[in-house]
Amino acid sequence: MKPTQAAFPATRLRRTRSTPAIRALVAENTLTPADLIWPVFVRDGEGVEEPVPSMPGVMRRSVDKVVEAAREAHDLGIPAICLFPYTGAANRTADCAEAWNPDNLSNRATRAIKDAVPDIVVMTDVALDPYSDTGHDGFVVDGEIVNDQTVEALVRQALSQAQAGVDIIGPSDMMDGRIGAIRTALEAEGHQNVMLLSYAAKYASAFYGPFRDAVGASGALKGDKKTYQMNPANTDEALRCVARDLAEGADMVMVKPGMPYLDICRRVKDEFAAPTFAYQVSGEYAMIQAAAMQGWIDGERAMMESLMAFKRAGCDGVLSYFAPAAARLMQNGR
Ligand code: PBG
Repeated sequence: MKPTQAAFPATRLRRTRSTPAIRALVAENTLTPADLIWPVFVRDGEGVEEPVPSMPGVMRRSVDKVVEAAREAHDLGIPAICLFPYTGAANRTADCAEAWNPDNLSNRATRAIKDAVPDIVVMTDVALDPYSDTGHDGFVVDGEIVNDQTVEALVRQALSQAQAGVDIIGPSDMMDGRIGAIRTALEAEGHQNVMLLSYAAKYASAFYGPFRDAVGASGALKGDKKTYQMNPANTDEALRCVARDLAEGADMVMVKPGMPYLDICRRVKDEFAAPTFAYQVSGEYAMIQAAAMQGWIDGERAMMESLMAFKRAGCDGVLSYFAPAAARLMQNGR
């Protein structure tokens, strides 16, 4: 039972806000570098760090530079890094075969990181969009994004990532049944310790725009992703997605995008008490950076406030392009 709120002046809520020390003492949530997963873009070449124009501060890195980034993340106390390949036109085909090539960019980066920085958690993305000539996450047959045929390809992609040594596989495709199919295949092939972080409640969002630039998919994408990603109008459906994915073998679940969907984070955490993550996506990052670059908001404070919001909403962690910048600030005691 909550005590009845005493009337002013017996209760002065400002008393516990009056100094930094008392504010720290009564803080309900904390943010540390250990709450962060850093998404990084991988490209071919050597010694390359190429800025992504729509995401100021974010680079596409060649594998050697991704290894440096992983080392930096580890030194900053960031436990995990998540890889997204930037695939050239030559490797975008109707059959998406590059997705399960053992030597594709993602798999090469995984092996290089695991060699050099074995303690960092490596997460990868399962979906066909970096490899398809349509920019869709699945195969397109007669204008339809076909489910079951796509799931078979996703299983091959997931197995090739497990073979390369990833710790966490993140299916971001939103096909039905893919968690169960991937989990079954991982068990059968001796990868029973590989974790699945399901993009369980992923919405058809305008906030993915800069990401599609970053991975070179914006030009390719024909139409939209509304027949597989969720309608922003829905909440109950997100709970059904999460229930289904946990039942099929997901170890952790994600809500995506983040800031516009904090209500979903809270409901998922309250309902399932499972490890819950949010993805603060490219458009959210770009918005904050753009306003900060104009001098319209204080970029550092907005970054930290936005990350704390995920903790308050019940998330165990956040995928964010701000991860290294935020961790650096925290290292300096802020
Ligand atoms: C694709 C994928 C997307 C993101 C992660 N994986 C884009 C999409 O669904 O079109 C978006 C991440 C971001 O915007 O930062 N499977």
